[in-house]
Amino acid sequence: MKFMKTILSGIQPSGRPHIGNYFGMMKQMIDMQKEALVYALIVDYHALNSIQDAEKMREFTRDVVVDYLALGFDAEKNVLFKQSDVQEHTELAWIFDTITTMPYLMRGHAYKDAEAKGKEVSVGTFNYPMLMAADILLYSPDIIPVGQDQKQHVEFTRDTAEKFNRIYGETFKLPESLVIEDLQTVPGVDGRKMSKSYNNYISLFAEDSEIEEKVMGIVTDSSGERPENVYAIHRLLKSEEELKPIYEENIGSYKKLKEMLIEDLKAFIAPMREKRAAIAGDENRVREVLEKGAERAREVAAQKMQEVKKAIGVI
Ligand code: TRP
Repeated sequence: MKFMKTILSGIQPSGRPHIGNYFGMMKQMIDMQKEALVYALIVDYHALNSIQDAEKMREFTRDVVVDYLALGFDAEKNVLFKQSDVQEHTELAWIFDTITTMPYLMRGHAYKDAEAKGKEVSVGTFNYPMLMAADILLYSPDIIPVGQDQKQHVEFTRDTAEKFNRIYGETFKLPESLVIEDLQTVPGVDGRKMSKSYNNYISLFAEDSEIEEKVMGIVTDSSGERPENVYAIHRLLKSEEELKPIYEENIGSYKKLKEMLIEDLKAFIAPMREKRAAIAGDENRVREVLEKGAERAREVAAQKMQEVKKAIGVI
């Protein structure tokens, strides 16, 4: 137990997950929960940069909890909690702001993208990486499973920990990121990366009719041996060996292959969807899980914060 690894990841409460989200970070977290201590953090304060609607915030946050429980997250053993329930996150983010320069944060991809699109960048978006560094470093995790797009943020976290340690003495452990390559390569129904913003996704808890509609709409390219966009989604559910004969037998028969993918997706999604529906009606369970998670997280975060406060000389 003592040598069990600690894993932490943050999830934005931003609406319902799709299968690309699942096969990226979520599945990773679920799979690792037996051998590791897993902190699954719902980053509601991060999401404030994009969700400025109290009802939506409540609904999306609750959805994340229900989704995780439906997927089999063990909230007894592991810790599922909200960022806003643990005040040390914003407190430590402030301290990190004071040792970080503007030019350094201007290198952030998220900031640069927003700038390039001519968006007005909120201060919260600009120093988002410092809040994320606090999310991580309070819990001394070993591994951060993230998608490729978050790799830079984990690097920022390591830099910030190193900088703090250099100035104030050894305080933070440097985490490693575990980049899930598949996350980047799960294509949506139009062949681009599966993403909410492209509206090309298949929901994780989709009804059968949505599965049928989305799969039938997958864009296929007749130049290759097999319809790559169909195959890539199929590969999430079945091994190469299992798929090889099926795709060889049905060369050119895209409709048949799509029908098989539909069957496999239905078989995969239906039990999770049913489980989700059963949990979604249980308001108390969601509240209890979050309360318990917050309590456990607070204990660890408060202890780390004491160390930090001593190191910087405010106590
Ligand atoms: N930035 C991450 C995202 O947008 C979310 C996040 C916030 C996170 N804090 C974190 C991820 C800590 C891993 C660890 O997906």
